[in-house]
Amino acid sequence: MYKIGIVTGQFGVDVASQELFEAASRVANARVVDPIQFSAELNNRHTIKVGSVEATDFNALIIRGLDFSGETDFQFEVFEQLDRAGIIIINSPAALQIAESKFLTSFILQEKGFTIPPSVIVQELDDAEAFLGEYEDIIAKPLYGFQGYGVIRIRRSEVDARSRIKWLLDEFKGICLQKYIPNPGRDIRAFVVGDQVVASIYRIARIGRWKTNIRAGARPIVCRLTTEQHDISIRASQGLGLDYTGVDIIEGPDGNYVLEVNGAPAWGGVMEATGRNIAQDIINYAIYRLDSGIS
Ligand SMILES: Nc1ncnc2c1ncn2[C@@H]1O[C@H](COP(=O)(O)OP(=O)(O)O)[C@@H](O)[C@H]1O
Ligand SMILES: [Mg+2]
Repeated sequence: MYKIGIVTGQFGVDVASQELFEAASRVANARVVDPIQFSAELNNRHTIKVGSVEATDFNALIIRGLDFSGETDFQFEVFEQLDRAGIIIINSPAALQIAESKFLTSFILQEKGFTIPPSVIVQELDDAEAFLGEYEDIIAKPLYGFQGYGVIRIRRSEVDARSRIKWLLDEFKGICLQKYIPNPGRDIRAFVVGDQVVASIYRIARIGRWKTNIRAGARPIVCRLTTEQHDISIRASQGLGLDYTGVDIIEGPDGNYVLEVNGAPAWGGVMEATGRNIAQDIINYAIYRLDSGIS
């Protein structure tokens, strides 16, 4: 029986981790791994441990999150070394690092030919203001944010446009500014596992609002992807090297824009709208990788 670890420092509150644990328990020896339990022993032989167990006892680790009461850089470095040692890490540290950064994600997506909103990543107010000189309606967001936190919309005509950008910059040090892409009050979240879209939804923003994060109160409903959207989702996921992901697409006036590709997406909204057991999809995919020896 394979030994699969669900890695999270938040098991008690993270529903996705709990569902993964349940799904993994059905087909494997499942364990919850709090990354604060990692330690390394370097004494001729080098050993990474989870509590008193050698980490290499695990066949696969599904990373849901780090433990911020410990040293998160160390935790991430451990994942990189276990990945090198041939343990299946989902999502891989390399892909997680890209997906976490709005700079790296946009940079690589653009390099690979996807349409993304015109963007700048800046650390200084002057550079941010220059962008607002170019576009009169923009979105500003922290480089490493999630769930819509800190994402604001700024029109050039607002009297406090400058001070709002300055506030965000003071708060986050590095921010991404994008042209606001007009859309039908919704975006698309395509959930990809391996080389398949297992479910897709529209996220409908609340009336009069523009943010489509479920956390911001958006409503999930089933969506049928066009062939192009389907193709974009698979290619974006694979282009960034992700094993599973939520690809966010905005239907702009001139076509589809890829907004985001998430490294550890929540799937509450997707499940609610489609009934799909996403956790089981991810575990099945991990087992498939283990069975076929693709490390
Ligand atoms: N360029 C944009 N044009 C239109 N809406 C946007 C744009 N960027 C972000 N949004 C809206 O803000 C939400 C959050 O932005 P996103 O980049 O996905 O950050 P987060 O990682 O916090 O979810 C999106 O789901 C979308 O509704
Ligand atoms: Mg998002």
